[in-house]
Amino acid sequence: MTDVLVQAAPPAELLASRASDPYPYFRWLREHAPVFAERKRDGRTIWHISRHDDVRALLGDERLSKNPDTVPGYRPGPEGLNKHLVHADPPEHTRLRRLVSTAFLPRRIAALEPFVQHTAEDLLDRLDPDTGVDLIGEFALPLTFTLICTILGVPEHLNTPTTRTMLTNTVVPTAGQRTDARLRTFLTELIAHKRHHPTGELDLLGALVGAREQLTEEELLGTAYLLLLVGHDTTVNLIGNGLLALLRHPDQLQALRADPALIGTGLEELLRYDSPVRDATFRVATEPIRLHGRLIQPGDIVSLLIGSANRDPSHFPDPDRLDLTRNPNDHLAFGRGPHFCIGAALSRMEGALAVNLVLHRLGEIRLAAPDHELRWRPSRVMRGLESLPVTSR
Ligand code: HEM
Repeated sequence: MTDVLVQAAPPAELLASRASDPYPYFRWLREHAPVFAERKRDGRTIWHISRHDDVRALLGDERLSKNPDTVPGYRPGPEGLNKHLVHADPPEHTRLRRLVSTAFLPRRIAALEPFVQHTAEDLLDRLDPDTGVDLIGEFALPLTFTLICTILGVPEHLNTPTTRTMLTNTVVPTAGQRTDARLRTFLTELIAHKRHHPTGELDLLGALVGAREQLTEEELLGTAYLLLLVGHDTTVNLIGNGLLALLRHPDQLQALRADPALIGTGLEELLRYDSPVRDATFRVATEPIRLHGRLIQPGDIVSLLIGSANRDPSHFPDPDRLDLTRNPNDHLAFGRGPHFCIGAALSRMEGALAVNLVLHRLGEIRLAAPDHELRWRPSRVMRGLESLPVTSR
């Protein structure tokens, strides 16, 4: 039996505005229901954890499993593409993580910096902010996707908007079986291509195809899907949310323009202020967990609200203020513990370069749409804009 204590319900207006601005809702949760039970129609319970200390502790808690196979009928991603490190516990997790992590070591990432700089400049030089520009579709998406395709060794002709849309559609709840099937076919063909055109250790997919005896075909497909998706989708949100925060805080934007080195602490603040991954990924309780008087039962799903943890006033003074000099800034935007983000160094480098280059190459820009017209992607895990229209007029 799940805990049936009566709990307060969040005010309807906070629920209604959650997609565009989740922060008032998060504040309400932290103050009134830090361990909040959502009962699903199918009888499942999802617990939403909103305070910084709790999220931090549970991100590394072994009583929470990352393996969705333990929940009958639950499928957190596209069919046939769920076998990867985000959905694995040790020892599978340790094995899969080891196979991919060397490609993302800080020294490998530092070597990619000139390529990122060149690609970003090239994209920005083609834009004319006088006529209006979408910084997501015309800049952040092609930049981040080109980079992850390069790291993985995806042939150039497959680095297309269609491929990107197919991948990102899988984090939108309405995407159905057909999208899943098309994506599986695409990835199967991609792996076959890598087998027929071996690149050895030169790129990550080449290395994974070569490490055949260490991972199953299903794990290979799942890992390719995971890296292609999270390798760009998250960093798009960092660049998009970060630039939006700056455009809404002209004093901070001017400070960064005047001193580009401010991007050091500044990027951490952008990661904290409007975190690209709002809720941590799938977790399920394997043992009873008692927290703030509530009882999480084995089989219950636990959602760790990173976006809320990063605005918790008990940890960050004046948490709703954007302060690019904030230090210390112990945010949880990249998670924590055994599943800590593999791409943290990569996205920090990409994000810092991208934000500074936009400010310097595009000159004085401002938002080209009022707040209520900005469209947020309908995803529970990701926090990001569909588009970011700016203009210099
Ligand atoms: C600003 C950009 C990014 C943010 C905010 C971010 C955030 C996160 C978070 C919060 C987690 C932990 C999830 C959890 O414990 O439930 C995670 C894991 C992961 N991230 Fe990122 N990420 C970013 C960029 C990237 C990039 C560029 C890659 C490149 C491949 C990447 C690859 C991964 C992988 C493979 C994991 C799973 C690690 C594991 O389960 O052991 N991420 N990320």
